[in-house]
Amino acid sequence: MYILSFESSCDETACAVVEMSEGTREIKSNIIASQVDIHALYGGVVPEIASRAHIEAISKITYEALDVAGLKISDIDMIAVTQGPGLIGALLVAVSFAKALAFANNIPLVPVDHIKGHVAANYLTHKDLKPPFLALVMSGGHTSFFDVKSYTDFEEIASTQDDAAGECFDKIGRVMGLPYPGGSALDRLATMGNKQSIQFPSPAISKDTLNFSFSGLKTAVINYINTKRQKGEELCREDICASVTHSIVEAVVSKVDIALKKTGYDKIVLAGGVSANSHIRAGIEEVCKKSGATFYAPSLSLCGDNGAMIGAQGYYEYLNGVRGSENLNAYPS
Ligand code: KG4
Ligand code: ZN
Repeated sequence: MYILSFESSCDETACAVVEMSEGTREIKSNIIASQVDIHALYGGVVPEIASRAHIEAISKITYEALDVAGLKISDIDMIAVTQGPGLIGALLVAVSFAKALAFANNIPLVPVDHIKGHVAANYLTHKDLKPPFLALVMSGGHTSFFDVKSYTDFEEIASTQDDAAGECFDKIGRVMGLPYPGGSALDRLATMGNKQSIQFPSPAISKDTLNFSFSGLKTAVINYINTKRQKGEELCREDICASVTHSIVEAVVSKVDIALKKTGYDKIVLAGGVSANSHIRAGIEEVCKKSGATFYAPSLSLCGDNGAMIGAQGYYEYLNGVRGSENLNAYPS
């Protein structure tokens, strides 16, 4: 079936067409109107500005997504839309647009959870991947382990107790003056630094739990930078990035190892914007090799927010009987 899908939970307005059936998982188009340049002026996402920019972009990218796919709205079998979590005003743009389009054209509407959508980006990358598996979702707003029992049945088994991993990268990046959002610049700088040069606290809070805590690490790095600046000492951005990344990779790798043992799974799926991080990918790859588990991560173009992942998850929700009515509302958390 052809699925037209929408995503507007944060600062990307996205629309895609995917073709999904029992043996097919194919992206026909995947259009993203990014607001990064607008929010970069403020060093973070401004919700009201995000909502307005979504409204300006959504019609245009819908035409573009259909056009690139070579399809008309009458060819579309189902419309999928991110229902939450995210910024409420931002979410409501795609939810309202998708509702209007679905009911005006008599097409079934399917609401999709953003986090499940991130995991589904892996189905588009790895055509044979099937649940059950262990998933680690790391994004700007979330860092959680899930027991993915089926395509639609997720159980959260651990999460961060405070900041998300992406938020930690972005806030450190902002203090260092890296381009917004800081995650990808920090990834590149980390490759050039000495990861043993500075000892930062670990975000792995205790051995007995799979939970994380990123706020202590974030504060320690910001304090380190501010102290250096106050003393007029030179900052080595590469060493800071490498040391922060090392602390995060060590924590993630140790938790993944424990989580695989605890759940008995031999498959781990990484998802969310932070899954683009080359050091985290390499660390998990290595621990999986040692433990005999198989590691899956989305292709780099599908790590961040996009419409195709929402379409892929929407397909499985549709098969499960999920439908959105004309009363469909967004949920922020
Ligand atoms: O999933 P996503 O696109 O949006 C949310 O749902 O939050 O994730 C965005 C986050 C941002 O914090 C961004 O800095 C981070 O993903 N990110 C990265 C990398 N690329 C994006 N973090 C670390 N390394 C990267 N290469
Ligand atoms: Zn996301």
